[in-house]
Amino acid sequence: MNFQFSSESIELISKIIKRYPEGRQKSALIPVLHIAQAENHGWLTTEIMNQVAEMLQIQPIEVYEVATFYSMFSLKPVGKCIIEICMTGPCCLSGAEELLAYLESKLGIKAGETTPDGMITLKKVECLAACGGAPVIKNGFNYYENMNFKKADLLLEKCTHESFTSHSNPYHQSL
Ligand code: FES
Repeated sequence: MNFQFSSESIELISKIIKRYPEGRQKSALIPVLHIAQAENHGWLTTEIMNQVAEMLQIQPIEVYEVATFYSMFSLKPVGKCIIEICMTGPCCLSGAEELLAYLESKLGIKAGETTPDGMITLKKVECLAACGGAPVIKNGFNYYENMNFKKADLLLEKCTHESFTSHSNPYHQSL
């Protein structure tokens, strides 16, 4: 597959790179990876990461290090909707394990898997830094706090809407 950034994304990336002093283009790495991932249906290939390295004039390994470290980046195909459930202590004490079991049973998949129709990926993640609203689910760039089975059902319903996707580019509106 040959991946090509859209002209709109290239323009956006060049604006983001200009925020940083000469020689510090690497500082733009996370926003650029978000843009790349949004353009590729929510996941990053090696080819894409290599292109990002070239754009930022850094080594490919520097991109792989970041893309493999953060759970917000995926290195394999994902569903149109990604449900990330926090499994760190405070969320577990507030029902995250029961919530995960509920979602796994409703979707017929385990955490880390995607439904056969390609609609929904279920992921376990570490603390989402919203512990006061435990248990917490992240979907795209939106947080859902104080989750329970009923709210999870509403989120699943939202995910099945044709126009709904977790793969939005958060930077398009900010520049
Ligand atoms: Fe779940 Fe912090 S422990 S958001």
